[in-house]
Amino acid sequence: MSTAGGAKKMLVSDLASSATHVPSNYIRPVLERPNLTNIQSPITADASIPLIDLEDLHGLSRSHIIAQIGQACQEDGFFQIKNHGVPETTIGKAMRTAREFFRLPESERLKNYSDDPSKSTRLSTSFNVKTEQVSNWRDFLRLHCYPLRDYVHEWPTNPLSFREEVAEYCSSVRGLVLRLLEAISESLGLPGDHISNQLGKHAQHMAMNYYPPCPQPELTYGLPSHTDPNLITILLQDDVPGLQVLRQGKWVAVNPIPNTFIVNIGDQMQVLSNDRYKSVLHRALVNEKKERISIPTFYCPSPDAVIGPTSELIDESHPAVYKRFTYQEYYHKFWNRGLATESCLDMFKISSSLYDLKSLTL
Ligand code: OGA
Ligand code: NI
Repeated sequence: MSTAGGAKKMLVSDLASSATHVPSNYIRPVLERPNLTNIQSPITADASIPLIDLEDLHGLSRSHIIAQIGQACQEDGFFQIKNHGVPETTIGKAMRTAREFFRLPESERLKNYSDDPSKSTRLSTSFNVKTEQVSNWRDFLRLHCYPLRDYVHEWPTNPLSFREEVAEYCSSVRGLVLRLLEAISESLGLPGDHISNQLGKHAQHMAMNYYPPCPQPELTYGLPSHTDPNLITILLQDDVPGLQVLRQGKWVAVNPIPNTFIVNIGDQMQVLSNDRYKSVLHRALVNEKKERISIPTFYCPSPDAVIGPTSELIDESHPAVYKRFTYQEYYHKFWNRGLATESCLDMFKISSSLYDLKSLTL
């Protein structure tokens, strides 16, 4: 179908610039809408996710900070961190580069377009335009970024500083992830290198999410409710609110605090911890007046890594909840089933695997 202005737009940012209404393919059924009145605003410190200061992670308070991280992973699945060691200038450059990228002319941005989730560098829109029924008010640039030398040559060269500045950000955030993985391993009573050792050669992806202003934000999502399929996510958001996290059955807004990151446990961490640590549902709402940019770093096992519950965390009262699988299998399922409230994890549970039960008894 053509719009009045000419050809159908590939990207929602180019459609949004002249839209007075949300087109019908972005409108959620009434019962699935964001329900803007039902948001618990984190007015008291208690209502929001914990904020953990990492300043002394390698000092005398290490055990105390590790206990805080462990508690947040277990009870909240989400926390914010400050004094995390990623320089403010590095963060500023990454955010500025993302903003400049999404301000490029449509034809320039579209040089990176692909709707194939298996491509390691691509600009796309919504979530998976090939499989989903309702679209999301989001464009995104996805990059693989570890090992850098394998991917950096695929990245955009416009803006000119893109590769240099994004590479700096990726390396610095990777250092932070490795420090966090060590702390999280210790918080589970495991050797510091345990989680890192389960990830094969490791992998790191990032997205630059661009949520254009939306004339009717109550009808649609930037991203609907989902859990992240990877191990752990480090999210940088700009100063426009939009992220919400499910806490005790209520959606809680995680409002931006400058120079902090939001950390969330992904599905693979839930599996490795045998359900001790929780991969929690979250979603992104859009704003009527303002564009919003977020930059999640998705730290992952390499595709061939075999993931399963850690044997030290299995005993009679905590039987293994998940079977073992390669990250590649999991990731493929995630992208092809569409974002849904039921976590993809259910498909990898031992009890739900009829096929496996049969093969055990036959
Ligand atoms: C994601 C995500 C939240 C946000 O990209 O997986 O949850 O605030 N993003 O953009
Ligand atoms: Ni997410």
